[in-house]
Parts: sequence; structure tokens; C-alpha cells
Amino acid sequence: MRLRETTTATLVISIAVILVFCLRAEAQSKMQKQSFGKTEDGQQTDLYILTNKHGMEAAITNYGGTVVTLKVPDRKGKVDDVVLGYDKLEDYAAGKAYFGAIVGRYANRIAHAKFTLDGVTYTLSKNDGDNHLHGGFNKRVWTAKDVSSSAGQSLELTYLSKDREEGFPGNLSVKVVYTLTDQNELKIDYSATTDKDTVINLTNHCYFNLAGQGNGDILQHQLMILGNRFTPVDASLIPTGELRSVKGTPFDFTTAAAIGARIDQDDPELKLGRGYDHNWVLNSGKTVALAAQAYEPHSGRVLEVSTTEPGIQFYTGNFLDGIRGKEGKVYNRRYAFCLETQHFPDSPNHPDFPSTVLKPENPYRSTTVYKFSTR
Ligand code: GLA
Repeated sequence: MRLRETTTATLVISIAVILVFCLRAEAQSKMQKQSFGKTEDGQQTDLYILTNKHGMEAAITNYGGTVVTLKVPDRKGKVDDVVLGYDKLEDYAAGKAYFGAIVGRYANRIAHAKFTLDGVTYTLSKNDGDNHLHGGFNKRVWTAKDVSSSAGQSLELTYLSKDREEGFPGNLSVKVVYTLTDQNELKIDYSATTDKDTVINLTNHCYFNLAGQGNGDILQHQLMILGNRFTPVDASLIPTGELRSVKGTPFDFTTAAAIGARIDQDDPELKLGRGYDHNWVLNSGKTVALAAQAYEPHSGRVLEVSTTEPGIQFYTGNFLDGIRGKEGKVYNRRYAFCLETQHFPDSPNHPDFPSTVLKPENPYRSTTVYKFSTR
């Protein structure tokens, strides 16, 4: 009798332990959601935490589709947050740096905030001197949905940009899906449809520092960009239209070089950008192909950027000026770099550049993958 009671008790305890274990495993493998606060006009925002089995973690808010933190292991397995950002929603709402956000409708600059399409001239909002820069998607509240699958934890964000928002024609329905895979990739799938001819250029504006956010400048990172040409700019950083060879210039990253090695050279283009703030013409075609690679020697972290886009803006945080960011860290000039996959800046005013025109019958699609590893 006593033996039977003991056996039953052991069985019950074992089942309970297994249950707790399963529930915990389930909780761990599920995307977590927590409040990120309310916007000034009372809209609820949330923070979604995506994890994978190698200890990577991406926290993304539906405010601006912003990557708030991106925790990545170094060569010893120590995890650091490798993107700049803020702790609080209010700082994102007030911020001007586009930290981690989805930018659009048109990532990068449109000269004089004007373009002509189908014979109609559209006037856009000016937010960069006389130019239009990046649009306002980074300050909108997007609708979020967990669409995780066997590919990894996935967050779908949708937003309807109404006809004439910031001056752009057409009701534009935008979808961005972030997936954190078990291959240590943060994959971003963009798609959009319009009900009227318009232009579109979407990207993500993560500011990376592979030594950890706020941990000094990025000048020692080794960078490679798979582009033989870049688009030189005028004084307001608008492309002149020329596609110039990088050969023999500080813009040649076809073989890996330290970001800081030539950044202060007496070069007119570097002077205009106050460092690197230029678009490279990628060698790749239309499939997802490697565009750039960055390596940080102390942590051993490697970032590979692959994309379907024809261009990439390499920006060395030249405008960072002591911004107070996450965990009290201060972001000074060149404390991060951006690799913004995109169509070329000001394409709507450059018929020779790959087209950014979007038509109702032809949905927009674009994919970029940020893959992390160590060396
Ligand atoms: C882009 C631009 C830069 C700067 C940043 C945001 O990368 O090219 O000139 O405006 O965004 O600060």
C-alpha cells in the first residue's frame, strides 16, 4: 500500500515537473510582448521581443517599426546590444536620428522636395534644408502581428499611408516582416501596394556598433562593400547623377579596410559628407546577395548585409553629437555606422537611376538580411 502511494506520488511529481518544463520551453520559444507606452495622442505602443536558440534577441516596437535593441553574442559568447537607440518612447518621438526605424515612404533625399510623375509635379514636406529626407514612417504607430513560423520568430507590421501623406500620391499599404532566424539573421521583408502611381524606397535605419552600443567609435571596424561605384553628391548630399568608380579613392571598400583609415582624407566627397554619407552602387542583381560586411576585431563580431536592393547608403554617424541614448550611454560623432539598403537617393529626379516608381498592378517587394557571426 505504502509502496503504491509512493509510486503514485513520484509519478504525479514527475508529470508536474515535465509540465512546468514544457510550459517554460513554450514561453521561451514564443515572442514576448510588453507595453512601450502611449504616444502623445494616446496610441498604445508595444515592444516585441524575438529570440532565437543561439541567445540572439531583437526587441522591436511598432512605433516606427523600430529595432530598439539587438543583442548578439561575441566570440566568447558574451551578449551585447549592438544598435543605438533610446530607452523610452518619448525620446524616439522627439529624436531626429531615425535610430533603428523603418524609413519611408522615400528613404534618403529627394532634391528640393519635388518630383514629377505622369506629368504631375508633387511637392513634399521639407525636413532637410530644401530637401525631403526619409519621410515619416519612423514616427507612425504600425499594426503588429505575430506571424512566427518554422523559419523563426516573425513580427509583421502594417501601415496605411494615405494619399498625399507628406505630399506623395496614392494610398500606400505597407507591410514589413522582421524575422529572427536560428542562423543569427535578422531578416526584413518589405512589401507594398498602391492605388495610384507613386514612388517608394524603404529601408531600415539601424545604427550599428559591433563592440556594443555606446562603446566608443566605429573607426576600427573593418568594412567591405561589394560596390565598384558610388554616387557622388552636391553640397546638400543630393547625387549629381554620376556613377563614379571607387578605384583609387577612399570609397574603395572592395577589399576590407578600417572605416577610419581614410575617413579624414582631404577628399571633396568626404568633406561634403563630413565623413561617409554616400550611396554605393551594388554589384548584385535582383536576388538577395551579399552587399557589405563589417568586422569588429575586439569582440570578433561580424555583420553581413545581404539585399535585393541596387544600392546601399554607408553613413558613419557624422551627425551624432552627444545624444543621450540607452542605459545612459552617450553617442558621439562616429559612434555607429549605418548600412541602409535602398534604391539610389533622389531617383525620382534621375531617370537614369533604377526606377522607384510603383504602379498599382505591380506590388513592391524588397528583402534585406543582417546576419551575425564571429571570427
Ligand atoms: C541618412 C542620411 C544622413 C543622415 C542620417 C540621419 O543616413 O544620409 O545624412 O541624415 O540619415 O541622421
